[in-house]
Amino acid sequence: MEKTKILMAASEAIPYMKTGGLADVVGSLPKYFDRDRYDVRVILPKYKCMSEELLQQLKFICHFYVNLNWRRQYAGIFMSQYDGVTYYFVDNEFYFAGDKPYNNIYEDVEKFAFFSKAVLEALPVIDFAPDVIHCNDWQTGLLPVFLKTVYGSDNFYAGIKTVFTIHNMKFQGRWKIKEVADVTGLPEHIFNSGELEFYGEANYLKGGIVYADEVTTVSPTYADEICTPEGGEGLDGLMLERRRHLRGIVNGIDYEVYNPMKDKYIYKNFSVRNTSGKIADKRNLQEKEGLKVDKDAMLIGIVSRMTNQKGFDLVAYMMEEMLSTMNVQFAVLGTGEEQYVDMFNYFHDKYPDKLSVFIGYSEEKAHEIYAGCDAFLMPSLFEPCGLSQLMSMRYGTLPIVRETGGLKDTVQPYNEYEDVGTGFSFSNFNAHDMLHVIQYALDVFTNHKDRWQEMIERAMRQDFSWNTSAGEYEKLYDSCCSHLTV
Ligand code: ADP
Ligand code: GLC
Repeated sequence: MEKTKILMAASEAIPYMKTGGLADVVGSLPKYFDRDRYDVRVILPKYKCMSEELLQQLKFICHFYVNLNWRRQYAGIFMSQYDGVTYYFVDNEFYFAGDKPYNNIYEDVEKFAFFSKAVLEALPVIDFAPDVIHCNDWQTGLLPVFLKTVYGSDNFYAGIKTVFTIHNMKFQGRWKIKEVADVTGLPEHIFNSGELEFYGEANYLKGGIVYADEVTTVSPTYADEICTPEGGEGLDGLMLERRRHLRGIVNGIDYEVYNPMKDKYIYKNFSVRNTSGKIADKRNLQEKEGLKVDKDAMLIGIVSRMTNQKGFDLVAYMMEEMLSTMNVQFAVLGTGEEQYVDMFNYFHDKYPDKLSVFIGYSEEKAHEIYAGCDAFLMPSLFEPCGLSQLMSMRYGTLPIVRETGGLKDTVQPYNEYEDVGTGFSFSNFNAHDMLHVIQYALDVFTNHKDRWQEMIERAMRQDFSWNTSAGEYEKLYDSCCSHLTV
């Protein structure tokens, strides 16, 4: 039987480039498809800021030129294998030479218009005719648009279906219509309110949602939320129109990479049958971070982009009270907005043995926090899926979350009467509600140790590997391709 051919297009994927969870998803999901039935490959930009070691491994395949209206731009294609998956890279040093993957939006709209078109132009050249192109987030939003408007009549492209996954509705890739029309060469008439226009601007995310055959997002609850005015970021009407073609498929994590039994970053490995290593990891983390070594203090981890999405306004509001009145400690890792960075630095200066902070990106520290903490705080304002809570549960670190998006779908709140649950949650975006649930968690941690231990084991026994969700994507691809087998 011929394999179904899938090309995943995205702006980031581990190990090549990562700024957030999108990279984890694109870099791990492809490994989990049934290889006898699916040939899944990935295509990314070739950023100059990728690690030198990885850049060295890429093999040049070919080059061609892409027309972007009156511009004619060079596109090189490179290739690599990682964990048995084929990766392609689009090279162009004018667009991808920056010291980070994203920059000013007016540059990014041109950069990713180029990328989307170059991906399509590359297909006949690399001799890969996918049945489905799976696009991710606004950076690839124009790909289905180009496919249907510019390439639709060409036989090579005519049968290709598109799936568009929304990882975050907040980022839409919006810019002036005149300039987007100029850099893309797309016909003027498609910048109307039913297609690419949005409050007087061009909107790449909207283009992807309107033009893709199927739309997904990264949890069932977020799929519902984006159909409402509160969660739709202005696109809820469109999402309702597309509801029949929209589904929420919850993300998984890579169980090989996040594995407490084998993790090379952590001080002591442990398993659900024997969690004693976790106690050593906590002690090690406290020592390393300059926190008071105290097994009775509830150590709470935070690993996050520092932005308002993640609920740091609630944290800022309650931090003084938590640090001054409760036996809790925080190990914080993240980068982002200055106001939150300053807030954590301030509390570190004031309570150095109760709150440690590392501003920056560190894979090693992230793993140490997931493994060594008792609890993990994620009081997000909104959360399409969230991966950090899945990672912490894998290491028996109990998440404390707000019931939104994927957090609601993946964390089962503790219920002391029925003795169920894998973490703690609160519903309203309210600082006192967050505080009360942290106080409750501390009470269980301190006074009901057996219950806490049972919860650790339940959290570790959950299956958030890709196995189930990769199957959901397979079904979706099959439904896109059903016309091929009739
Ligand atoms: P988002 O994609 O919205 O940032 P997710 O929870 O889906 O949130 O994914 C975040 C990913 O980024 C996780 O793999 C998390 O461990 C990682 N991460 C976030 N900040 C850092 C950091 N400063 N250092 C290392 N890893 C980080
Ligand atoms: C986005 C979302 C996050 C999700 C990730 C991967 O960055 O903010 O909730 O887990 O994409 O889908």
